[in-house]
Amino acid sequence: MASRKQIVMSGIRPTGFLHLGNYFGAVRNYVRMQEDYECFFMVADLHSLTTHPDTAELKNNVHRVLSENIACGLDPDRVALYCQSHVHETAELYLLLNMLAYLGELEKTTTFKEKARLQPDNVNAGLLTYPVLQTADIILHRASLVPVGKDQEQHLEMARKFAQRFNHRYGKIFPEPQAFNYGSELIKVPSLDGAGKMSKSENQFATLYLSDDDELIRKKVMRAKTDQGPTEKNSPKPDYIENIFLLMKLVSSEETIHAFEEAYNTCTIRYGDMKKELAEDMVKFITPIRQKAESIRNDENYLKEIMEKGAEKARKSARTTMEQVRSAMGFNY
Ligand code: TRP
Repeated sequence: MASRKQIVMSGIRPTGFLHLGNYFGAVRNYVRMQEDYECFFMVADLHSLTTHPDTAELKNNVHRVLSENIACGLDPDRVALYCQSHVHETAELYLLLNMLAYLGELEKTTTFKEKARLQPDNVNAGLLTYPVLQTADIILHRASLVPVGKDQEQHLEMARKFAQRFNHRYGKIFPEPQAFNYGSELIKVPSLDGAGKMSKSENQFATLYLSDDDELIRKKVMRAKTDQGPTEKNSPKPDYIENIFLLMKLVSSEETIHAFEEAYNTCTIRYGDMKKELAEDMVKFITPIRQKAESIRNDENYLKEIMEKGAEKARKSARTTMEQVRSAMGFNY
């Protein structure tokens, strides 16, 4: 008997442009999962209100994040790709779960403490109950697998706790969601300045965005830190050189990488040439994604259509869950 596919759910923040780190760390995983699982991918527009109360840019941001994710290979025909605010059942489940979440545990959440510190004039209740809303997103589809990075582990732990508490009090409806990614370790994409990984908050010039044009990609890559080259054969690589090799492994051919490894080990490497090659391979990788994302973004009708289709799929799954929830909780009079 064919068993039902496991359910995957994740949320995508509509703030900021996608960069290479997001692509290899997250989006590529989503793309693979759409083959093997029943997937729900959601733009977390409501969550963004906890930190970005001004909604003037919201539409633009939602359109951009959808376009970029589709350009990377998410297929709106295969997965439910939708906006959080379009699925009203989320708000109902969020309200119910709020009765199961204790002030003490919410106040202890690392992300809450961090954001309260960053925006002391806007420590709103939504910020406090952010993990409750995230739990609602996930268990609304009775999802068991949640592809997220390390920074979300505590939120997932809380999601398990809230799901458990619900199950214990009202009847077993929800699986306990687990963080899940292909491969044992998430790929870290090093930044171009030799410090840390690519991220949108740090040095902008050290991060390659999927929206960067060819010239900007070349400029950023050519500025990456190097040195005079090794003076002894087969010597270990300094971090910033290792990083250039790591970036090459993401986008260049085996032969190219092998040739530069050889050159490094025999002290004949010319970093200028290596960066030129890396820049061209990055351009080849990023350009088609950028162009596809641009053309999707310009097609507002298409975006509307896919959002509606995604919301329809998500609502269908949400309605089934909410019927069970209301009945389990005794709202049947
Ligand atoms: N909190 C997540 C982040 O900051 C976004 C998110 C919202 C999410 N709802 C979710 C992630 C549900 C996984 C599942 O990236």
